[in-house]
Amino acid sequence: MPDQDEPVWVDTTVNGVRHEEVVDARTTLADFLRGRLRLTGTHVGCEHGVCGACTVIVDGAAVRSCLMLAVQADGAVVETVEGLTDDPGDLTPLQDAFSRHHAVQCGFCTSGFLMSTTAALREGPVTDEAQARDVLSGNICRCTGYTGMVAALLEVGGTRDDH
Ligand code: FES
Ligand code: FES
Repeated sequence: MPDQDEPVWVDTTVNGVRHEEVVDARTTLADFLRGRLRLTGTHVGCEHGVCGACTVIVDGAAVRSCLMLAVQADGAVVETVEGLTDDPGDLTPLQDAFSRHHAVQCGFCTSGFLMSTTAALREGPVTDEAQARDVLSGNICRCTGYTGMVAALLEVGGTRDDH
């Protein structure tokens, strides 16, 4: 068990770019992404796994990056909201649907919702409201009331590609 301040190597691919960095053993993946890589689209709210704001995709699975150490992403492929499109000016169909359905208010929670729902849509279609609400249930929003997110998810949920 390394000391929590012990420097450790992390070799991880984030949004298609390989990063080899030395971090403190206790550094969370969220802090690594935001502080070291300056990928500040991943937000930190509760810092204990409840709100979902910090959700990213690691090796295909949605994870709470506040609960995962950066060193646990050694050798992994990480996706953040910045990597959903190649061009920052583009929107994925899901992002576009979030915008049109007014699923964003302050936006603090939005990247977490996008990463959770993107991971879910890669697993399979989302075609009814109960299923959509189940997909959204792991994330908390304090502004929008979820109605727009459900509509956005159902609009794109029947298709499998290019979320
Ligand atoms: S900040 Fe990670 S779940 Fe809330
Ligand atoms: S849009 Fe403000 S917390 Fe979700």
